[in-house]
Amino acid sequence: MGSGMSGKAPWRVGVLFSQTGVTAVIERSQLNGTLLAIEEINEAGGVQGREIEPIICDPASDLTLYGQQAEWLLRQDGVNVIFGCYMSSARKEVLPVVERRNGLLFYPTLYEGFEYSANCIYGGAAPNQNSVPLASYLMENFGKRFFFVGSDYIYPRESNRVMRNIVRQGRGEVVGEHYLPLDAEAAEFEPIVQEILRTKPDVIFSTVVGSGTIHFYQVYKAAGADPTRVPIGSLTTNEAEVAEMGADVACGHITAAPYFRNLDNPENRTFLQRYEKRFGSTTHVTSGCEAAYDQAHMFARALAEVGSTDTERLRGALVGAEFQAPQGLIRIDPDNNHTYLHSRIARVNAEGEFEVVRAVARAIKPDPYLVFPALNDWSMWLQASGSS
Ligand code: ACM
Repeated sequence: MGSGMSGKAPWRVGVLFSQTGVTAVIERSQLNGTLLAIEEINEAGGVQGREIEPIICDPASDLTLYGQQAEWLLRQDGVNVIFGCYMSSARKEVLPVVERRNGLLFYPTLYEGFEYSANCIYGGAAPNQNSVPLASYLMENFGKRFFFVGSDYIYPRESNRVMRNIVRQGRGEVVGEHYLPLDAEAAEFEPIVQEILRTKPDVIFSTVVGSGTIHFYQVYKAAGADPTRVPIGSLTTNEAEVAEMGADVACGHITAAPYFRNLDNPENRTFLQRYEKRFGSTTHVTSGCEAAYDQAHMFARALAEVGSTDTERLRGALVGAEFQAPQGLIRIDPDNNHTYLHSRIARVNAEGEFEVVRAVARAIKPDPYLVFPALNDWSMWLQASGSS
């Protein structure tokens, strides 16, 4: 084991984000968020005088590798805490490993909900924090005929099940539903886009993830579709993917997320300045990146409090903990290990920047099992404001 700045052994943690493969663009942004936070903590003296040392793996967007590398981290590298995973299918590979060895996974990604593990801290949005607000906004502004397009794995299928129920609750309907392989090429989206043009939905809900997102939006544009009339609404299309597809392709499309890069508050300005200094540009800063950054800081605070990476002790300090994040004040919910998060809906402008068109007044309690669906709870919304 190496030794840190003070000669004391570092706190070793595993970092499990793909730097290659179909989800590399988003996962690299999450890796960067994690590393930025760890570097900030170390520059400020570490935790109890000990540095945090990240053991960085690259599971290459390959599900088997997530499970294997989690096992190695816990068994051979002797770490107890892992930051990682984007796809829900990857989380489902890692969680049994972490549970078996009583480790702790920090998962900084929106997901489909309907899960609880005592060995996971969920830092991304659950459906009540993003699907419900997005559906409400789309139905109110565009109409009630939805067309679903997703990648073929658990998050899109399960997220669409939730979305279908929300749409029905709002007296809407789903007029088409298609799933493509994660590594689908542009040509595979063409028949689906043709069907969308024929079916004439009011809105498209995309749960396509990774590189397929870029193909889908590009094919939609090339087919002559008009996103000002029929936008693609998504929870997974973010700043990094917009940068890859180009502003002309992304303009007019809509995403719901707790965080967008252009929020104007002191914590976000500092976060972006530090990110740019470290990585050279903020082009790829996303909601997943911010969640990863928040989770690493919340871990370090809990570690400082309990002086141990033991799961029970860390969890005891984490639940109920608050953090003044770039998205605003957040808090880990003691009821379910998920996080109170902000909810914002943004539309891509001609410059390729997300402009917030609706935002909640304060962080929403996570309700991963949708016990309290609140489709029409308009009281929680602030009016549109460019950067709130
Ligand atoms: C996801 O698979 N949770 C985006």
